[in-house]
Formats: sequence, C-alpha cells, structure tokens
Amino acid sequence: MTLLLDDITLTYADGEGRLTALDRVGLAVPAGTVTAVVGPSGSGKSSLLAVAATLVTPDSGRVTIDGTEATGLSRADAARLRRRAVGIVFQQPNLLPSLTALEQLQVMAHLDGRRPAEVRSRARELLDGVGLAELAHRRPHQLSGGQRQRVNIARALVNEPRVLLVDEPTSALDHERGAAVLELLADLTRARGTATLLVTHDRGCLGVADEVVELVDGRLAGAGVSP
Ligand SMILES: Nc1ncnc2c1ncn2[C@@H]1O[C@H](COP(=O)(O)OP(=O)(O)O)[C@@H](O)[C@H]1O
Ligand SMILES: [Mg+2]
Repeated sequence: MTLLLDDITLTYADGEGRLTALDRVGLAVPAGTVTAVVGPSGSGKSSLLAVAATLVTPDSGRVTIDGTEATGLSRADAARLRRRAVGIVFQQPNLLPSLTALEQLQVMAHLDGRRPAEVRSRARELLDGVGLAELAHRRPHQLSGGQRQRVNIARALVNEPRVLLVDEPTSALDHERGAAVLELLADLTRARGTATLLVTHDRGCLGVADEVVELVDGRLAGAGVSP
C-alpha cells in the first residue's frame, strides 16, 4: 500500500476547547489508483490532505508513505520524505506570476538538486503530458484557469512522487474543463502508478475514482457511496 492513513485523529485549538477536524480516519490508497474523499465544506478534507502530506502532525494515528512511517519523523526528515515521495496539487495553483509554465516546474526540481538539463527535459515532457507543450513559455496571466490547473498538476509530478494529493481540483473550473482535468489526473495516476488521494465537495469528481469514501464532520462513512 503506497499511502496508508491509520486511525488519524486531528484537533485544532478552538477557544477554550478543541475542535475535532479528523476523528479516527483510516484510508489505504494502492499504487495506480484514485481514492476520492467527498464531503461538504468544513468536513475536514483539507486537514486530511495536510496530514497525508506530513505538513500537519495528527494528535494520534500513523501516516505511512511508500513504506516509510512519517508520523515519527523529525520535521527535516518529514520534509525530505515529502520532497522525494509526495506531490501536492493545492486548491489554489499558487503559480509564481513572473515565471513561465516551464520555469514553474524547473524551480520545483531545482530545490531537489537535480542537473538543469535533466530537469528541463523532464519539465518539457510533463507539460507535454498535460497537453501544454505549445504553451511552455507562457506566464500564468497568459493561461486560462484550466491551463493553470494543468501546470499545477505537472508541477506536482516533477519529482516523480509515489503519492499524489489533490485538493478540490475542479473548484475553479467550469464543468467541461473540470471533467478534462479529472480525466487527466486519472490517466496520470495509471500511467505513473501514483497513489492518488483526491478530496472534493463536487460529486461530479467521483466518476474517475477507483474508491470513494465520504467524510462527514471529520468521520469517514464509506458505505453507500458509489463512484
Ligand atoms: N488551522 C486551523 N485552525 C483551527 N481550525 C481549523 C484550521 N483549519 C481548519 N480548521 C477547522 O477544521 C474543520 C475542517 O476544516 P478543513 O479541513 O479545511 O475542511 P474542508 O477542507 O472539508 O472544508 C473546519 O471546522 C475548520 O474551520
Ligand atoms: Mg478544503
């Protein structure tokens, strides 16, 4: 199992008390498959992704990524594991305004200390894979919302992650572009063998998932939802 979340509980400080954002959540995502977590706003979806990404340490439970238990690691070791094994597609693309599509990808890989020529050809190949080969030299303001989301996805794949985490990929897109981005995510997942965890409030996303689970008030309610 490439991504394992085992009995995860996460609380946040909330005035005098604590708010339980995730309540004993367990999930297993095999390589080459998409698991969709669907739930309304505030149900804990982004919190779940942050825990899976090792950006947030849960109160209890374990996260295992590509065979390494992340929950016991130091922050520095967790950051290394994240860079090596995890690609994150945040809800907001957060592209750097001054960089071209190609450069957005190159910057990510440079952080990982690879050779520039190798990085450049990999970045080109990834942009090609998301249908943006012709637009590699455009900056974010010269791209549509859907195209920016494709750059966002390609960027998450630069370091060849085993785990791909995706937050609300269709929220800024119309139905047609949203559907195309979902198809792309499903194709990339199968072609690259990533364990993909996608969280969304949009039930239109569920068709591309191999497994669908429902999150309500931080609790998983798996039964009764079909892809
Ligand atoms: N950093 C935080 N501090 C305190 N409460 C938070 C924080 N992040 C999220 N929450 C709360 O945790 C719950 C789950 O939020 P979130 O994971 O963002 O849900 P979703 O992504 O499904 O909308 C919400 O009630 C939200 O207000
Ligand atoms: Mg969210």
